[in-house]
Amino acid sequence: MNEQPLLTPVRLGRYQLSNRIVMAPMTRSRADNPDNAPTELHAQYYAQRASAGLIITEGSQISPQAVGYIHTPGIHTPAQIAGWRKVSDAVHAGNGRIFLQLWHVGYVSHPDFHGGALPVAPSAINPNTQSYTPQGMKDTVTPRALETHEVKLIVQDYAQAAKNAIAAGLDGVEIHGANGYLIEQFLRDGTNRRTDQYGGSVANRARFLFEVTEAVIAAIGADRVGVRLSPANTWNVPADSDMRGLYDSVIGTLSGYDLAYLHLREAQGDLSAIPNMVTNVTEHYRRVYRGTLMTNTGFDRERANEVIRKGHADLVAFGTLFIGNPDLPERFRRGAPLNQADQQTFYQGGSKGFIDYPALSPVA
Ligand SMILES: Cc1cc2nc3c(=O)[nH]c(=O)nc-3n(C[C@H](O)[C@H](O)[C@H](O)COP(=O)(O)O)c2cc1C
Repeated sequence: MNEQPLLTPVRLGRYQLSNRIVMAPMTRSRADNPDNAPTELHAQYYAQRASAGLIITEGSQISPQAVGYIHTPGIHTPAQIAGWRKVSDAVHAGNGRIFLQLWHVGYVSHPDFHGGALPVAPSAINPNTQSYTPQGMKDTVTPRALETHEVKLIVQDYAQAAKNAIAAGLDGVEIHGANGYLIEQFLRDGTNRRTDQYGGSVANRARFLFEVTEAVIAAIGADRVGVRLSPANTWNVPADSDMRGLYDSVIGTLSGYDLAYLHLREAQGDLSAIPNMVTNVTEHYRRVYRGTLMTNTGFDRERANEVIRKGHADLVAFGTLFIGNPDLPERFRRGAPLNQADQQTFYQGGSKGFIDYPALSPVA
């Protein structure tokens, strides 16, 4: 039992982690105050999960423009930095490590968040999805295409947000380049029809990701920067016409950045109708990426131990299992039963379904 690879220490950038079990970034919509600042409840929630080798926080908007869901926390105001300070202090008191996820939703937003102004995106294309606004779910609108000089300003917003995260005592940041948000909107050819240096070729569509990564590295150092990508994702964004070509190129280039880690989401569902789609994401990109690799999506204890034992990944992030099981590493260690997470309270607000999942009793 103690030979579980998940429970062995691992190096991640400048940190030595006590295990390879990561809490995946998860929006919980509990920053329900006018500042969109983390609260004492957040500090408690994350501190309960400090036995993870690494916690990655919920997506946190880098600027007022970056928001797309109600009650998500930001990392661009003094009140938000003060809120995150409570979280980082609480996690460190439990000997945990915590990175903050830097988020810009792009077109997955709504004018209601922006005083009636349009959300921004690489190109003026309505994603025909929904945004979770203060008045409930609303259909998205056709966004406004960013001017070239505005793209540069957003790159600076990422760098400033990374500095703010460090000022708040977080151990590092994860750049959210997954799940159909702004960075992925730039990467994919269906949502990026730009004719400037940020559109057209793969190199041009990836320029935004690389400029963000370089700016964040310059701000806080590569050894505390991770990047999350979803090379098989079709949520919020259509597949690229050449998914394999796009991600082989982008991930190959990321190898040269000496990041703390690359975080990939595995494929989900039936993707057989999509041409050039890599469905064994972890195994395939292990061969492409030289550096610390974290995988996620659909793993349980057995499959996670196996993916590490086979050498396909160095760490595994768990999402829903960590919502219901604050002491997930101990449960894995003991092979103990797992609590079921209640989907009704994922985004509901309040303490129910947030800080009230029981931990195991200590072994006598
Ligand atoms: C409630 C909830 C909120 C999520 N919010 C985020 C988020 O803010 N950022 C992100 O990158 N992924 C987010 N995800 C995706 C998770 O990080 C993870 O990829 C997904 O849950 C699959 O992992 P699992 O099978 O271990 O649950 C969220 C998932 C859930 C269930």
